[in-house]
Amino acid sequence: NNSPEDIETDECMSTYTHIYSPNLLMHGCDTVIASRNLEKLSEAAKKLTSTTGRRCLPIAMDVRQPETISTAMDETLKTFGRVDILINNAAGNFLCPATSLSFNAFKTVMEIDTMGTFNTSKVVYDKWFKDHGGSIVNISATLGYRGQALQVHAGSAKAANDAMTRHLAVEWGPSGVRVNTVAPGPISGTEGYRRLGGSHAETAGVFRSIPLQRAGNKTEIAHAVLFLASRAASYVTGTILVADGGAWLTSAND
Ligand code: HXC
Repeated sequence: NNSPEDIETDECMSTYTHIYSPNLLMHGCDTVIASRNLEKLSEAAKKLTSTTGRRCLPIAMDVRQPETISTAMDETLKTFGRVDILINNAAGNFLCPATSLSFNAFKTVMEIDTMGTFNTSKVVYDKWFKDHGGSIVNISATLGYRGQALQVHAGSAKAANDAMTRHLAVEWGPSGVRVNTVAPGPISGTEGYRRLGGSHAETAGVFRSIPLQRAGNKTEIAHAVLFLASRAASYVTGTILVADGGAWLTSAND
């Protein structure tokens, strides 16, 4: 097992062995974390600050409401004076067959995953990246590659995001903006894993059919995102990096 250390809970890791140079992001980085729930964010920000010694600003916003993103970006620039990296990882998902999926449920997931990614990218581009360059990393999924059952909403939304990655890479490349995507497989200790039956799949032995024969962990996805976000990938744009242990190649609808 070559997987790096990780933790199953939402706590921060107590130890970490750097696999990249520790100053890859210019001596670490300050962060802004954003979601609808300020209470949860504040708790996470406290943990991140105390573990990393870097500043972490929690901001409540909804990716479906562009004006809230705009306000969040203004607050970010006021606090930190610049933005170098945007990670689009807001998503909503659940298992549901197409026949039971309401029109509003499909629309809701499209609005969070697809429009949310567009809205946030556009605000950050207009307010900062347009004049200073930057790096965007979107978090996608492999669900649509083989038409995963019970996932028409999320698979369709993420497929649109994969196209968006290429469109924005082409339009914004001349401004010095790279746009890339990481498509994770099943990752232990995540909300997606809990919602999409990860533990059940593990117990049932489903992960043995994955070429690397296990679920991934959060640190492994962080490493993929860090690669694309950083100058390690300075000539990489418009690409989708699948980090799934080879899962989509062998698991169709289980
Ligand atoms: C069927 C559902 C549903 C479910 C909600 N809906 N949950 N339908 N099965 N389990 C329907 C509702 O009935 C409603 O339709 C519509 O969706 C909108 O629901 P709301 O609750 O009003 O919307 P909202 O509060 O905005 O919630 C959005 C959400 C929610 C997506 C439904 O689950 C959410 O916010 N989740 C955020 C966190 C999350 O999901 N993270 C995991 C991402 S995992 P009607 O018709 O009744 O009005 C991930 C991994 C991907 O993306 C792949 C890994 C391999």
